Amino acid sequence: MTTKIYESDYLVIGSGIAGLSFAIKASQNGTVNIVTKKRNFDSNTNYAQGGIATVTSKEDSFNNHITDTLKAGSNFSNVESVEILVENGPKRIKELIEWGTKFSYNKNNSLSLGKEGGHSFNRIVHAKDLTGQEIERALLKKIEKNPNITLFENYTAIDLLTEHQLSDKLNTKKVTCFGAYILKNSTDTVYTFKAKTTLLASGGAGQVYQHTSNPKVATGDGIAMAYRAGALITDIEFIQFHPTTLFNPNEKDRSFLISEAVRGEGAILLNSKGEKFMKNIHPLKDLAPRDVVARSIDKELKRLGDKHVFLDISFKSKKFLKNRFPNIYNHCLKNGIDISTTPIPVVPAAHYLCGGIITNLNGKSSINNLYVAGESANTGVHGANRLASNSLLEALVFSHRAFENSKKTIQNNSLNDIPDFPYWNKEGTLKLEELIMVKHSINEIKNLMW
Ligand code: SIN
Repeated sequence: MTTKIYESDYLVIGSGIAGLSFAIKASQNGTVNIVTKKRNFDSNTNYAQGGIATVTSKEDSFNNHITDTLKAGSNFSNVESVEILVENGPKRIKELIEWGTKFSYNKNNSLSLGKEGGHSFNRIVHAKDLTGQEIERALLKKIEKNPNITLFENYTAIDLLTEHQLSDKLNTKKVTCFGAYILKNSTDTVYTFKAKTTLLASGGAGQVYQHTSNPKVATGDGIAMAYRAGALITDIEFIQFHPTTLFNPNEKDRSFLISEAVRGEGAILLNSKGEKFMKNIHPLKDLAPRDVVARSIDKELKRLGDKHVFLDISFKSKKFLKNRFPNIYNHCLKNGIDISTTPIPVVPAAHYLCGGIITNLNGKSSINNLYVAGESANTGVHGANRLASNSLLEALVFSHRAFENSKKTIQNNSLNDIPDFPYWNKEGTLKLEELIMVKHSINEIKNLMW
């Protein structure tokens, strides 16, 4: 069956901070098609509460941020990647502000800086507790009227266009990406999207777990696609669990995050006996790196046979909490918890994939013309455990470097040189009348992983 072929200079898969910020820059150089599995804002970025870690205060230094990042990652990170991450942070934040992102400010007009686990200084730039949502808003507004960008919502990338689609004898040494096969969800039609350069920014895989802070779209399919095409993948075992999501036995698809910034404002973890159990575990106590806190909570739950621990911020005034954490305050209240009077029941949940598709320092994967940024990439920054609020920063810094590095590909390549790929072959697949067996398998995987 023949279907339309879409062509553009750039194909961007994913509409989180990595994909959108790359697309804005790429559009100055050529045409950009962005495909996103659901609505334009459905991404992990949109749910990020805490913020972006960056050195902007005089008391802080790049060295401090680098040291904190390496320590949190159990010295498993690539030092050069971490230096690039930290030293390029302030420029990328400035750019976001120029693009219209409204962060929170102090009365003296300096950026309000929050604190999170593993950080030795207050350095988290944020927009109250809705940082990701505010960034998405600004980026989507910026691409809205851009004549060089076309956004395809409810289109799912299903396979990369590489030599392995042309021959079953895949020579892994010389794989090149020419775009992707993309499914239009509403019609079940698969289109060929050709591009000179592809950026995979399809996010993580939290939905593989029973309990996760990630939205439904976080199913790791971008990484699976790259793997099938022969890309190098690593450190997939380093899954970060966020220590504090709201304990809600009725939760369906996603656990609601109680930002680490709440502990940054002094909140204390308590077990069911009212004991401050982080006190003797780490010098940073409740603000120890995330993996340490999540493991300690898990230990308490097992030791006492409990279903959750508590996070207490009730010593702060209602006025402060409503202003600093409006999202968390309102969500908890809707669930019957007034956080200004009552400790919040919390449990850890799968949160972030530290490993991913290996990239070099310019965001390039082991496949020619394929760049990867954001949670699907492994740039070497996070090691065994990502430092809080380094994820949006990594997405910004490395998608920028990918854009800079891809300029040559755009200049030197022609769309006419892209081989003729066959139309997607549906043979051997069938449209299921019932989804029950698929649902069973998904639940089985989630249970097993948990
Ligand atoms: C949070 O607000 O606790 C999450 C931020 C992050 O994942 O770094």
